[in-house]
Amino acid sequence: MRRALTPETPDDATPDDATPDAAAPAMAGPVAGASSSRCVVSLRDVTKRFSNGTLALSRMTMDIRKGEFVSLLGPSGCGKSTALRIIAGLGSPSQGTVDWPASRIERDGRPDADVGFVFQEPTLMPWKPVFDNAYLPLRLKGGSKGEVRDRVMAALETVGLKDFAKAYPRELSGGMRMRVSIARALVTDPKLLLMDEPFGALDEITRQKLNDDVLRLWNEKDLTVVFVTHSVFEAAYLSSRIAVMGARPGRVVSDMVLPRPEGRERDEAFRLSETYGDLCRTVSQALAGAMHAPPAGEGA
Ligand SMILES: Nc1ncnc2c1ncn2[C@@H]1O[C@H](COP(=O)(O)OP(=O)(O)O)[C@@H](O)[C@H]1O
Ligand SMILES: [Mg+2]
Repeated sequence: MRRALTPETPDDATPDDATPDAAAPAMAGPVAGASSSRCVVSLRDVTKRFSNGTLALSRMTMDIRKGEFVSLLGPSGCGKSTALRIIAGLGSPSQGTVDWPASRIERDGRPDADVGFVFQEPTLMPWKPVFDNAYLPLRLKGGSKGEVRDRVMAALETVGLKDFAKAYPRELSGGMRMRVSIARALVTDPKLLLMDEPFGALDEITRQKLNDDVLRLWNEKDLTVVFVTHSVFEAAYLSSRIAVMGARPGRVVSDMVLPRPEGRERDEAFRLSETYGDLCRTVSQALAGAMHAPPAGEGA
């Protein structure tokens, strides 16, 4: 599909064949990527100070456009989860604005139906079988089991768990439990999938497999993904764009659009390629730079 192979390139990007280092991401200011794509979420000068006084985000500004796979990459405690929750409408900024220009806003003021959220832990109900766990968001919206059975089964099929609908979480591996959590996030057919370090607790092989599965879903379901990670390798493998966040208070200090030229799919060969190695090095340098970036101006 088009998006996986040739995601939107910035308007001023150099054509790939003219670029000496094909792995070099296009560094950009606060707004990178295709200006022609619709904006799905827009954060403007978002500052978040918790009631205990912790300043988690300071004047964070970014637009997320339709079809992007954006990783929020940053050190632990830099405000990635706080930013993701604000993007989901699960938390509100202390200052600044968050806007979902393309979404239907529910009565509670949030774009609930349009957003799927995958947490760090699978957070499944252990006393309920897989089907019931994946069915939860539709149950909360008033859908009867009979009415939505096909949708739930389709979501389970998407993550390869069709045959495990009757199994209980304790009967599944860690990777399978995370798949149930992804099915639960997809069951409402969201446009925007938000994932908060979903694979951090998994072994490397399972993580790589799930990384590939998420890329397939991004592709097949025409999703926009915001993926939180502190792994340079994961961000470099998955993303069409990486927003590197500086240490607390968090804000975007480096915004990179990654080259994903035609024919260079993400797969095992890519993982072993020099291109991927170069990309990891560049992203790693950006992360190191972000750790020493000066704090943003007056934020709160
Ligand atoms: N509900 C909260 N109340 C007070 N402080 C919080 C709360 N949630 C997060 N924090 C603090 O805000 C900062 C950013 O947290 P978080 O967004 O979870 O970071 P990350 O996801 O990048 O590890 C941390 O210092 C954390 O301790
Ligand atoms: Mg976090």
